[in-house]
Amino acid sequence: MRLAVNIDHIATLRNARDEQQPDPVTAAAIAELSGASGIVCHLREDRRHIRDRDLERLRDIVTTKLDLEMAMTEEMQHIAIRTKPELITLVPEKRRELTTEGGFDIVSHFDRLVEFIKPVQDAGIEVSLFIEPEKKAVALAVESGADLVELHTGPYSLKKKNNEIEAEINRIRTAAQFARESGLRVVAGHGLNYYNIVPFRIIEEIEEVSIGHALIARASLVGMETAVREMLRLMNTGCDK
Ligand code: PXP
Repeated sequence: MRLAVNIDHIATLRNARDEQQPDPVTAAAIAELSGASGIVCHLREDRRHIRDRDLERLRDIVTTKLDLEMAMTEEMQHIAIRTKPELITLVPEKRRELTTEGGFDIVSHFDRLVEFIKPVQDAGIEVSLFIEPEKKAVALAVESGADLVELHTGPYSLKKKNNEIEAEINRIRTAAQFARESGLRVVAGHGLNYYNIVPFRIIEEIEEVSIGHALIARASLVGMETAVREMLRLMNTGCDK
């Protein structure tokens, strides 16, 4: 399993004082050097963490894979086509939410989604959809022409009881298997941390996880390199991949 590091909260900290430190671009470079296979940032409509200039600078220095999380708006489509990240991930976005709350509503937005994806892919950018781990959502993702899906692990991350954790892992695994059989690549993310990654790593169909908050929180105390290496060790101990 590979690790993509979301560096939004380095920018949150920087913006708290509206100064230059800590720099999310430096954080991205250290994360890559420490073994991350991708850097993720979410350019929000309100620019509450990552800003346009950060994205430009990230594009210049990221050598693994830059994943731009974004809402399905015309403004973001233009920015993506101009900036050319390797990948965009479409997420629902509400102004007042603390973080992304739930998967993209693919049923309600299907027609718009199909129109939206084409010019992005024509610009050489892959498209991922952040969806709930449900068969219907996966089937519509296939039909929409997306290249991959990111399965929402938020509900999994909140489970406390073993039987509930197991049920949620099975739900995610079933969706991941269906997506792979349907020709999509599968990643996952949201709410994953140094504890819940351990039972999660058995889902072989998931090639990569996207982790932000827990990793940046740990990096603030032990440093980015240690935080990335420790997560990679937990993700891959005892696994062939
Ligand atoms: N994946 C998506 C689509 C997200 O929106 C986020 C949060 O920005 C993450 C993964 C990372 O979630 P967390 O910060 O809880 O690790």
